[in-house]
Amino acid sequence: MATQETSQLERELGELLDVERFAPPESFRSGALWNDPKVYEEAEADWQGWWARQAEELLDWAQPWDTVMDDSDPPFYKWFAGGKLNASHNCLDRHVAAGRGDRVAFHWRGEEGEERDVTYADLLRDVQKLANALKDRGIGSGDVVGIFLPMIPEVVVAMLACARIGAPHNVVFGGFSPESVRERMEFSDAKALITVDGARRKGKTAPIKSAVDEVMGDLETIETIVVVRHTGVDCELREGRDVWYHEALEAADDECPAEPLDAEHPLYILYTSGSTAKPKGILHTTGGYLTGAAYTQRYVFDLRPDEDVWWCSADVGWVTGHSYIVYGPLLNGATSVMYEGAPDYPDKDVWWSLCDRYDVTLFYTAPTAIRACMKWGPQYPERHDLSSLRLLGSVGEPINPKAWLWYWKVIGGGRCPIVDTWWQTETGSILISPLPGITEAKPGSATVPLPGIDAAVVDEDGQEIGEGQGLLVLRRPWPSMLRTLYREDERFVETYFSKFGPRTYLVGDAARRDSDGYFWVVGRIDDVINVSGHRLSTAEVESAIVSHGKVAEAAVIGQADEDTGQAICAFVTLEGDLEGTGDLESELREHVAKRIGKLARPKRVIWTADLPKTRSGKIMRRLLRDIAEGRELGDVTTLRDPGVMKDLEGKFASDGDG
Ligand code: WTA
Repeated sequence: MATQETSQLERELGELLDVERFAPPESFRSGALWNDPKVYEEAEADWQGWWARQAEELLDWAQPWDTVMDDSDPPFYKWFAGGKLNASHNCLDRHVAAGRGDRVAFHWRGEEGEERDVTYADLLRDVQKLANALKDRGIGSGDVVGIFLPMIPEVVVAMLACARIGAPHNVVFGGFSPESVRERMEFSDAKALITVDGARRKGKTAPIKSAVDEVMGDLETIETIVVVRHTGVDCELREGRDVWYHEALEAADDECPAEPLDAEHPLYILYTSGSTAKPKGILHTTGGYLTGAAYTQRYVFDLRPDEDVWWCSADVGWVTGHSYIVYGPLLNGATSVMYEGAPDYPDKDVWWSLCDRYDVTLFYTAPTAIRACMKWGPQYPERHDLSSLRLLGSVGEPINPKAWLWYWKVIGGGRCPIVDTWWQTETGSILISPLPGITEAKPGSATVPLPGIDAAVVDEDGQEIGEGQGLLVLRRPWPSMLRTLYREDERFVETYFSKFGPRTYLVGDAARRDSDGYFWVVGRIDDVINVSGHRLSTAEVESAIVSHGKVAEAAVIGQADEDTGQAICAFVTLEGDLEGTGDLESELREHVAKRIGKLARPKRVIWTADLPKTRSGKIMRRLLRDIAEGRELGDVTTLRDPGVMKDLEGKFASDGDG
């Protein structure tokens, strides 16, 4: 019976594979916020005026700006210079003042099924208290505050309390190891850290505060650690430095007026992986970033704050969580769902049960999650009523057409447009995406740049490629762009603005443009690996592996993977004549988990006596990629010792699954 149903679905999906374009369903199109393509022309006619209009309509300014965009010192662009506003005021106060304090901001669901509805008024109350508590501890404008918290409402309070007093937050994804947290606190000179006693994951509890203590002990810049009591697991609070979140709130004053800040005041730093082992501290500022987040949240997702229930299933520790769990939805006064747990806990239908329970209308997730759901089978979503859904979104990596079609059919019931949204930590908000009431979708393509955005595919010389593959670039500044890499201006210029000059942003992705002008992002051009939509740098993982005492040398590549998009494959040379064993492989994987986090553990470890290198000693990862993906080897003429590749090829053949 089940097999028959599956094959019926497979047949239907197979037929859909031949459909090249999916026009917005008429039922959606007719009622969409935007359904007239003239928005593209309007934006093109005066793109700065377009952004000024968005900033004015979507945000509340304490003082208007003098200049929309100041490009006197490219690539250090300024947006809305002279203007003043406060992010926390825009997310909370203005909605409460307009009588919407009782509106639910988050339907929070805990892993064990607990439910908590947090209203805009609740958030405003706690944000003011926490902001005062931070101020009482000497934290003020410009001081960096680290945040290492799981998916609980307190993380939103923490971010907005920082924004309220002009202290840039530096959130670290909960899946990173305490050592990574420490590194990010050190790089940013964080003065305080907001963390938790313990975190829950699939029914287990992991101590967080005590693990953080082990590595944070001697970091003197951290003067305050605020600890949220969540799991009740034991932890020590160091006298004079640490304080319970609930006690700090209780002791703090109720009122903390939102300070109007310069439009270019730093809002947050978010570390992401680049080409070297040291993560890049992406810096976002206030006015432009908020404009981008509010604009895309409203028009890409066709958000109606009075009717919709929004759910972005990302973790708040990634940029997707910053822009589409916190700032985008709250700026628009929306109601969201926030779920603490994993998509398969307590069972593989938990997401769909929550969509049903809270009547979710707009759902945003990653291709890797969709592929996992596909693998688990349609019986899980079929257990629940998903008829409230009216739009679906995807982000993080290219979505393969098969997953797109499954999402469309099984989750969206063929009535929900899918927006495949392309963007990066650096871009702050979505830049290439369909507008759901206008754009015809092609499964696998993020389609075309949003109104106001100028993207192009160019060749190595910067010449535009009308049709074909090349480098993706952005040819004009946009409000939510990164302003620099924290304390690394030179690296900022070098990474993004050296290849084609200070007016053309080099994205780091390769893309193809088709005859309709649609963009198909193919993948990274640098040494960044995308595992389940999470960015990791090969150098970062290599340096973690090499820091193990038994390892002499390592090279890491991303290998195509059916489930996670790419998977980490490590080629490892051991010290002396040590033998690579299964035990040592597990040890290495644990070592990497400890240094970076579980997400960076290599899926495969290949022992090798030597690595392919050029005569100047540079590791030729390109050849390792060829081998791992079973391709003909590319140009090997620069190889110092061709014998190395013969050995490796032999290894892969005997490994079986290469
Ligand atoms: C990739 C996540 C294809 C891309 C928001 C980009 C995508 C990197 C898409 C940024 C998409 C993201 N289609 N590729 N819709 N969305 N990417 O900084 O390679 O974690 O450069 O930001 O993910 O990853 P980041």
